[in-house]
Amino acid sequence: MSILVTGGTGKLGSEIRKLLPDAIYPTRAELDLTWLKSRIHDVIKGLSPEIVIHCGAMTGIRECDTNPALAYATNVWGSYNLANASNLSSSNTRFVYVSTACVFSGKPPGHFNENSPALPKNVYSLTKYIGEKFIESLDMNSLIIRTNFITRGKWPYPKAFVDRWANYLYVDDCAREVVRLALEKHLVGRIHLYGSEKASLYHWAKLTTPEIQPCSLKEYSGPELTQDMSLSSIIMGPIMTDHYFPRPEHVPLEWRLHGE
Ligand SMILES: NC(=O)c1ccc[n+]([C@@H]2O[C@H](COP(=O)([O-])OP(=O)(O)OC[C@H]3O[C@@H](n4cnc5c(N)ncnc54)[C@H](OP(=O)(O)O)[C@@H]3O)[C@@H](O)[C@H]2O)c1
Repeated sequence: MSILVTGGTGKLGSEIRKLLPDAIYPTRAELDLTWLKSRIHDVIKGLSPEIVIHCGAMTGIRECDTNPALAYATNVWGSYNLANASNLSSSNTRFVYVSTACVFSGKPPGHFNENSPALPKNVYSLTKYIGEKFIESLDMNSLIIRTNFITRGKWPYPKAFVDRWANYLYVDDCAREVVRLALEKHLVGRIHLYGSEKASLYHWAKLTTPEIQPCSLKEYSGPELTQDMSLSSIIMGPIMTDHYFPRPEHVPLEWRLHGE
């Protein structure tokens, strides 16, 4: 089965690469999401993938806010052109679009499900949401996975919010579930992928970074943030959060693929 994964150098894409080493991972030099539609079409036509897992995106909230045109070109048009090219390259290409919990208002008590109305708060989440809508407008086998994840490494900032919440997945667990859902070809539409534990970001940070300092959204200046990022689902229960460090190796998924 030919699987193409975008964003293969990113946090999620790198974990997917461990599970699907035989998939195609074009670099930005080989497939830039901001390229003209015809150029993206030519690349995809040449590869003709059966499944596309689209993780590539401009993800920095401040970066998107500073350069909304680039965010729009990457997250909206890039996603649309890639999905459209995939649809045209073969009659039943499956397109899996990784989206975010930040498409919602973030108003407590959170726990947004697949039918909750979206209300993006910043350019990043707005472009991710419009990307979703563009994918949904195409008549193809597509799945939108809204999720939220962190790495098992040190918290990337010196402080973490006590008044911002999430039911995160660890990125390796998220990758495993994204791959599983991508292979379930009958599953189409929108689905939320979330962890079993909801806590403040300060709590999450403490788990890997004991020296982390607490802070409040009142002290923050920058693009508006989604305060409560917790997800729920009308389709699927939470993925059990596993705080075990270091993580044991997963049963390789290629075993399942080759064994089919
Ligand atoms: N991180 C989170 O907490 C989170 C939460 C929910 C959803 N998501 C979604 O999950 C997906 C993966 O996120 P991540 O955190 O793994 O992202 P990331 O670490 O920021 O990596 C982004 C990836 O996208 C690629 N990319 C960016 N602009 C591109 C362009 N113009 N053309 C081609 N590739 C481009 C980057 O390639 P280069 O190496 O060339 O820069 C990189 O591989 C994204 O769709 C994101 O919206 C993330």
